[in-house]
Parts: sequence; structure tokens; C-alpha cells
Amino acid sequence: MTQGIEGSATIYASEEYAVHDEPYYLPIADEVELFETAYAQRIPVLLKGPTGAGKTRFVEYMAYKLGRPMMKVSSKTGQEAEHRMPLITVACHEDLTASDLVGRYLLDTDGTHWTDGPLTRAVKVGAICYLDEVVEARKDTTVLIHPLTDYRRLLPIEKLGQVIEAADGFLLVISYNPGYQSALKDLKHSTRQRFIAIEFDYPPREQEAEIIAHEAGCSREASIDLARLGEKVRNLKEHGLGEGVSTRLLVYAGKLMAQGVPARRACQVAITWLSRTTRKYNAASRK
Ligand SMILES: Nc1ncnc2c1ncn2[C@@H]1O[C@H](COP(=O)(O)OP(=O)(O)OP(=O)(O)O)[C@@H](O)[C@H]1O
Ligand SMILES: [Mg+2]
Repeated sequence: MTQGIEGSATIYASEEYAVHDEPYYLPIADEVELFETAYAQRIPVLLKGPTGAGKTRFVEYMAYKLGRPMMKVSSKTGQEAEHRMPLITVACHEDLTASDLVGRYLLDTDGTHWTDGPLTRAVKVGAICYLDEVVEARKDTTVLIHPLTDYRRLLPIEKLGQVIEAADGFLLVISYNPGYQSALKDLKHSTRQRFIAIEFDYPPREQEAEIIAHEAGCSREASIDLARLGEKVRNLKEHGLGEGVSTRLLVYAGKLMAQGVPARRACQVAITWLSRTTRKYNAASRK
């Protein structure tokens, strides 16, 4: 049930958000089968890879796919009700604490009351909980992640003096981009050893062209040119271009081209600016 509609936006309680329309995802290797098998065994999954390589799209696709076989179930009233796999995504940042995930007491006019955080909601309803860029979060979050990601599947809520057994469907999925992290801000070994890792990278040229054509709605020729350009730019990585251009930015360039922006200009604003910014950044960090 949605909580309401404001303006043209639909509002969901976070545990009620599910992916409704099938997301477009082009499998690159065996990641779909691996995730399905891991999910069936409730093995936590770590998605590793650079920015804009399809990690978020993949989780959304998997949540949709895993929810689909159970989509129509008969409720007690005999009506057909929909069941979908709830997906709770948390973008982790350096100020994110264990309380932000688990919940906290809030004060209002009626006094204090407890509010569940996103992780607690996911554990209770049996959702897939996706912690994006988990190493960014404060270290106290490992206290929650560890008992949830081994055989115990327990969430301790210290402030309530409770321990919650995760509902059957619950699975913790985290993302991690090793390129960004300094050694100081890396995952602890004991955390890493609780997940299988599915690695993402920018797709091979043919597949990337297919993705660009689908996402951007540009011509097949334009998508092949963009994918070829992406490949070339990535080969210049050693020349100060950080991670190279992401599939996301190639899609943006394709979208501009599909709307009539000349190819050169579209690539300048979507791709070339990266190299200038990276060069300036590198020069500044050397000073
Ligand atoms: N295999 C794929 N199938 C379909 N679309 C893809 C695929 N890979 C990348 N994309 C496209 O690239 C875009 C960026 O992907 P996404 O947002 O999932 O990246 P990400 O890895 O989560 O990046 P970040 O680490 O910055 O969050 C998507 O919106 C989609 O258009
Ligand atoms: Mg993402």
C-alpha cells in the first residue's frame, strides 16, 4: 500500500517500495545466475566495481526478477494480490551511523517513540537491503552487519534490548568500489569474508553499444561509436583519466545525440570534461 500521493509523486513507506516495472538489464556474464543461487541459499552478496557500471540497475533487476514468480498470490479474501520483493536501498556516507540503519527514539508532542531504521524494516519484512558504498559508513555499522551476514541472521537492537531474527526473504547486498578507498577506509577482513563478490566492469564494446542504444534511444551507429570511444578513453586511464568514462556518461552522450546535439558537442559535455577535471584534480593533489 502506498502512503500517499503528493503532487505527481507517489510516496511509499520504505519497506513497501518494490520495483514495479521490469528494469532493463543486459547480463554481461553469469551474474544473474550467481545472484539467484546466492539468494536461494541466503548468501550475502557484495557488488564490486567502478561507478556507472550497472550495480544499482542489477540489484533492481534482481529484486524484480526474484519477486516475479510470486507476484500473484491469493489473499484470504480470495482476491488476487500482488507480491513483490521489497528493495530497500541506503546510500552510505561518512556520517551514517548504526542508529541511522537500525532506528532511534524520536521526540514528538506525544512523547518519545521508537522509529525503525531502514535495515530493521528490511529485516522485518524480508526485503533485499542494498547498502551502497558501505565502506563510507561509520565503523559502528559493522556491529549490525556481522550477525546479520553469518549463519545467525540476527539484528541486535541494543536500545530496545531486542534481537530480531531476519524474516526469510531478507538478504543483505553491499556495493564497494575499491578504486575510491584509501587503505584506511577499506572493508575489514571479517566483513569481506561474509560475502561472495560479484565483480562489475564496463561491458565489452558490443554489449555496451547495445545498452547505450537501448537506454539513449540513439541510432545503432551512434551507440557503436560511443562504445568505441568509451573503450579508447578507458585505455588512457594511465594518462590521468582516473577510472575512464562510465557507461552512464556514454548513455548521457547518446541521449543528447538522440535529441539532435552534434556528436562532438555531446561528447565534449558528457565525456571530455572528465579528463580536464581529472588533470586539474591530479595536479592539485600533487601540490
Ligand atoms: N548491464 C547493463 N544493463 C543495462 N543497463 C546498464 C548496464 N550497465 C550499465 N547500464 C546503464 O548504466 C547506467 C549506470 O548504472 P548504475 O547506476 O547501475 O551504476 P552503478 O554501478 O550503480 O554506479 P555507482 O557506483 O556510481 O552507483 C544505468 O542507468 C544504465 O543505463
Ligand atoms: Mg549505484
